[in-house]
Amino acid sequence: MKALAYERYGPPEVLAVRPLPTPRPGAGEVLVRVRAAGLNPKDVLVRKGKFKWLGAAPFPRICAYDFAGEVAELGSAVRGLRVGQAVYGMLNRWAAGAAAEWVTVPEGELAPMPLIPSDAEPRDPYVLAAAVPLAALTALQALRDLLRVAPGQRVLINGASGGVGTFAVQIARIYGARVVTTSSAGNQALCRELGAAEALDYASTDPAQAGPFEGIFDVFGSLPFPRARVALTPAGRYVTAIPTPRNVVRDLMTRALAQSARLVVVRSRRRDLEVLTRWLVQGALRPVVDRVFALDDGAAAHAYIETKRARGKVVLRIDDAP
Ligand SMILES: NC(=O)c1ccc[n+]([C@@H]2O[C@H](COP(=O)([O-])OP(=O)(O)OC[C@H]3O[C@@H](n4cnc5c(N)ncnc54)[C@H](OP(=O)(O)O)[C@@H]3O)[C@@H](O)[C@H]2O)c1
Repeated sequence: MKALAYERYGPPEVLAVRPLPTPRPGAGEVLVRVRAAGLNPKDVLVRKGKFKWLGAAPFPRICAYDFAGEVAELGSAVRGLRVGQAVYGMLNRWAAGAAAEWVTVPEGELAPMPLIPSDAEPRDPYVLAAAVPLAALTALQALRDLLRVAPGQRVLINGASGGVGTFAVQIARIYGARVVTTSSAGNQALCRELGAAEALDYASTDPAQAGPFEGIFDVFGSLPFPRARVALTPAGRYVTAIPTPRNVVRDLMTRALAQSARLVVVRSRRRDLEVLTRWLVQGALRPVVDRVFALDDGAAAHAYIETKRARGKVVLRIDDAP
């Protein structure tokens, strides 16, 4: 099969489309014929070798955690899915593997794929679905489980115009929050469209001066807890998406305190995908897709994510084999 893979850690140029063996599903796994694979900053960090201490998978390594496609084969223990059914999901394993024609997925890491309404390009249902899992699960798990956002709360999303942020704004609104965002000036209108009541330009406004907030989600990483704290209410909660050693320690030290500083670590779970699915089909949640790249242009897609200016999501389209 064709796969976007790399033989060593390094810059985007280490990526190439290579012929690799098609994987076989284990008993509790599903073989998925991938039609689109979503990319995330995690793909870039893993490709650079930033997480190699967490356990090295053998090379060549295939990129991408997010996928949408069809069930091609079911492992012997898998029930409740059928061959040909459209599915989407995110791989929990560090070794990734979704940027390929086929990928094996544990059955708990995928769900039936929603048909997401779209009144603008892209309309490709697989591209839209592949844009969702990792970023939207991160936003859901941060806002619901760690910030515990409730109706009427004033919540700050710092870095609202990227992959995670565009979902976080909408999910905080779904939970009834009054959402305040930061982005560049050019993306303030997008943040308002997604549901922000106040859209701040980070170049001219310090969000730490815009409190009080019951919840702060630092998606981008430019508002560390010591600075954010002054903008929190006495029982306000803070969550960061940036897994630095300092943020891990703060998470452990503050989780029992009124003002907590938690670190979200996204996990793929079918029941959370199903929560997203309900909102997606209702039109309450929509992916913002910035660019779609062909598998052959995977290095350019990675380089684009590295600019840290993606407006929403970046997705690879996996074309049919020649
Ligand atoms: N811990 C976890 O489980 C987890 C899960 C997902 C993601 N993450 C991490 O979360 C971070 C965000 O992920 P993502 O997918 O949202 O990234 P992304 O899509 O690459 O984010 C790009 C966005 O960052 C914004 N940005 C750039 N400079 C900024 C600044 N100074 N202040 C505020 N926003 C700024 C840009 O907005 P403008 O163009 O408007 O400037 C752009 O929209 C990454 O570091 C990622 O690794 C962690």
